[in-house]
Amino acid sequence: MATHKLLLLPGDGIGPEVMGEVKRLIGWINAQGLAHFETEEGLVGGAAYDASKQSITDATMAMASAADAVIFGAVGGPKWDSVPYEARPEAGLLRLRKDLGLFANLRPAVCYPALAEASSLKREVVEGLDIMIVRELTGGVYFGEPKTITDLGNGQKRAIDTQVYDTYEIERIARVAFDLARKRRNKLTSMEKRNVMKSGVLWNEVVTQVHAREYKDVQLEHQLADSGGMNLVKAPKQFDVIVTDNLFGDMLSDIAAMLTGSLGMLPSASLGEIDATSRKRKSLFEPVHGSAPDIAGKGLANPIAMISSFGMALRYSFDLGALADKVDAAIAAVLAKGMRTADIKSEGTTAVSTSQMGEAILKELQAQH
Ligand code: NAI
Ligand code: MG
Repeated sequence: MATHKLLLLPGDGIGPEVMGEVKRLIGWINAQGLAHFETEEGLVGGAAYDASKQSITDATMAMASAADAVIFGAVGGPKWDSVPYEARPEAGLLRLRKDLGLFANLRPAVCYPALAEASSLKREVVEGLDIMIVRELTGGVYFGEPKTITDLGNGQKRAIDTQVYDTYEIERIARVAFDLARKRRNKLTSMEKRNVMKSGVLWNEVVTQVHAREYKDVQLEHQLADSGGMNLVKAPKQFDVIVTDNLFGDMLSDIAAMLTGSLGMLPSASLGEIDATSRKRKSLFEPVHGSAPDIAGKGLANPIAMISSFGMALRYSFDLGALADKVDAAIAAVLAKGMRTADIKSEGTTAVSTSQMGEAILKELQAQH
């Protein structure tokens, strides 16, 4: 059996608490012989700053590069509000994304039937919802040059941000999205604004070419990002995989997330290029939520976002899709039985702790096994 190397970076606040539940799961998977994971642990964020005055050290970066996947908790908190800008906790995460070349950000929005009431939309609109948003993460208007604020000298200033996309950047994100669609319901929707943006024209053209060359078996449609946003709220179940640029993806993935409930439930994955020789790709898996200082240290955090981020690692980095399906089914089963952490509980019910939720999910897995 192949050995998979994981770097665990629990980080700050509730990061270590929710990571504890992933460790429990890894221990069980190894003991059952379902896969073989070798784990290392490192410091990131405030925890790293306290130890080294840096939000991530070169040594930890080397460990991240050598790992088959990085499992990341969360960073930040009031304790580090006044540290120098370059050493702020978030800088550690940004360096990981940049140095590992993680250009594809995957954000699923899944509505668990038991939690359909938690959505801001009607049950029938969201029940059974299962969308994957693929956001380009390393290009576009957040990084394009020129990026300036100039004093025009007449009491006016001018701010410039520049949207830049090259063919190869669109091709590689399109391939990630088409590959995902193939593993799902075989449908991809590409969103841009070709009606007003040159980058939208190129985006549309390149996605269409990649489709014609390599993915004719996948159903492709194009939507303008603004009406796509409307459709996401109006009739979200029409979507399977959505691919879009950095800026639109930032907004559309946050909108899609709120169709399905709490921050404590939302996983994500960030993927890099496939290495030509090893056929492996760099990857990082993290919950969407932050370090939640308001509830840290109390055992209240919902571990589901973290556990299902690890589930994405099983599926997308290790080709353990059947095991990932079981993890998802165990989460759904525990929710169906009415078990809730404080963030997703309804009035009049009692909440379980982080470790009780983690234990229940594992028990469900054992029962299925
Ligand atoms: P947050 O996501 O940490 O918390 C927002 C609200 O959601 C809080 O009320 C929190 O208690 C709740 N929440 C979040 N995750 C939860 C979970 N698993 N279970 C139950 N409740 C949960 O965002 P906030 O408060 O804006 O930021 C707190 C710190 O986290 C800041 O230092 C921020 O910079 C950092 N942050 C880090 C991120 C990362 O590491 N990727 C992402 C977002 C924020
Ligand atoms: Mg955002």
